[in-house]
Amino acid sequence: MKLSTAEFRAMQSLPRRLGQRFFEMPMFRSMGLDLQGKDVLEIGCGSGYGAYLLNQLQPKSYVGLDLMSEQVELARRKYPGFQFLIQDAEDLSQFADGSKDVVVIFGVLHHIPDWRKTIDEIIRVLKPEGSLFLEEPRGVDIKIFDTFFRWGHPDTDFGLKALEEHLAARKLVIQNKQWTPLLTMYHIQK
Ligand SMILES: C[S@@+](CC[C@H](N)C(=O)[O-])C[C@H]1O[C@@H](n2cnc3c(N)ncnc32)[C@H](O)[C@@H]1O
Repeated sequence: MKLSTAEFRAMQSLPRRLGQRFFEMPMFRSMGLDLQGKDVLEIGCGSGYGAYLLNQLQPKSYVGLDLMSEQVELARRKYPGFQFLIQDAEDLSQFADGSKDVVVIFGVLHHIPDWRKTIDEIIRVLKPEGSLFLEEPRGVDIKIFDTFFRWGHPDTDFGLKALEEHLAARKLVIQNKQWTPLLTMYHIQK
């Protein structure tokens, strides 16, 4: 779903950039993120700073998609060399089966009403033994953002327990999981 105005502004802020650059990317790197020569899809790319960081790892190809045209327009303006699509992540039908080595998500599934469908689509587009690097807040973290910053997250049934149950039902393997104060980070393998 579209972000509230407060969360949209926060996603463009310097603290968000610093967190992504100096905390989340190094954490994913320490968990095995390696994109050199790989075909990469980023779900919920926002205004493109993740694209900038991910492309420093020299992927063979990169596509970022986001539901919000406002985000994608910013991304295209800031990073004209990268490919961005306005696209709902519940439908990845434009990507062929087994066409991506790595899918990356920086905090998006908790915004998607049918997030299980997105996971199932990611499984389809990943190559055998492809990887999903995923970070998401816990329910309590979402409450903190909504109480203190009035971000107004959508009411979905997303939660880490439900996520892990769905991954297990689809026989995906959690290779690595790291708890941090506001985000939980996963390396998941097909
Ligand atoms: C919390 S923001 C994170 C943005 C960016 N990944 C970052 O870390 O700064 C969540 C992003 O997911 C996008 N989003 C929400 N629902 C979506 C959907 N169904 N399909 C694709 N993107 C979606 C929003 O537009 C927003 O850009």
